[in-house]
Amino acid sequence: MSTTTNMKTFKNIAIAIFAAIVMVSCFNDKKPNYQYFPNMYEPVGYETYGEYGIFPDQQEAMLPVKNTVPRGFVPYDYDDSTEGLELAKAELKNPYEVTEENLAVGNQLYTVYCAVCHGDKGDGKGILATREKFLGIPSYADAGRNIVPGGIYHVEIYGLNAMGSYASQTNEKERWQIAMHVMDLKAALNGEPGVLETSKAGAMSDSTKVETNPAVANTASELEPK
Ligand code: HEC
Repeated sequence: MSTTTNMKTFKNIAIAIFAAIVMVSCFNDKKPNYQYFPNMYEPVGYETYGEYGIFPDQQEAMLPVKNTVPRGFVPYDYDDSTEGLELAKAELKNPYEVTEENLAVGNQLYTVYCAVCHGDKGDGKGILATREKFLGIPSYADAGRNIVPGGIYHVEIYGLNAMGSYASQTNEKERWQIAMHVMDLKAALNGEPGVLETSKAGAMSDSTKVETNPAVANTASELEPK
């Protein structure tokens, strides 16, 4: 009697151990456990940095095609050098109209990014300048600097010595809006009329120029069939 009981217990223990081994043998802690609806876990698209046979080197992550640019990227042709800055000052023009809205956005962005150093008035007396955290911050009215929109845009792209680049924080339009505001500050520091007035006056004189410009008139008549 007692031997059969022993045999039974032994069998039960053996079955339990066997079952435990079978259950544990397929367990892989690197993989998720049983997936009830696999589609909810496994994406149809390729996973970022995933390894798939159809890609070169089996790598999903690849370099962009040569000579392509990201959507929204605007190429900038001037070098990050003194010559580049001078060239940008001479040639590069603000393509956007000077309006109250653009100036207001420029003012806001300037307050966020530039005023800590350059000061709210653009006199070079921002809080980091007065606390002597940064030295050599110029006033926009500094005649030796020749502050013009193209130059402002250039230093926003590349920075200049102690000043960092703002290319990643701002887009193309925002940089020009900031440049408008900086020109406004410069005018105020010099006691001159703001850029809104001068640009309106400039636009008017431009259009009168076109009407009376003999070179333009000549070209027009040359184009006419004779
Ligand atoms: C960390 C402080 C700091 C901040 C922030 C800063 N600047 Fe400057 N900025 C400087 C310094 C310093 C110089 C002088 C660099 C030099 O000539 O070596 C300078 C120079 C300039 C100049 C003169 C360039 C020239 O032609 O000589 C302009 C324009 C300018 N900054 C505009 C801006 C604008 C716009 C912003 C905001 C987007 C800005 N700065 C943010 C420190 C700063």
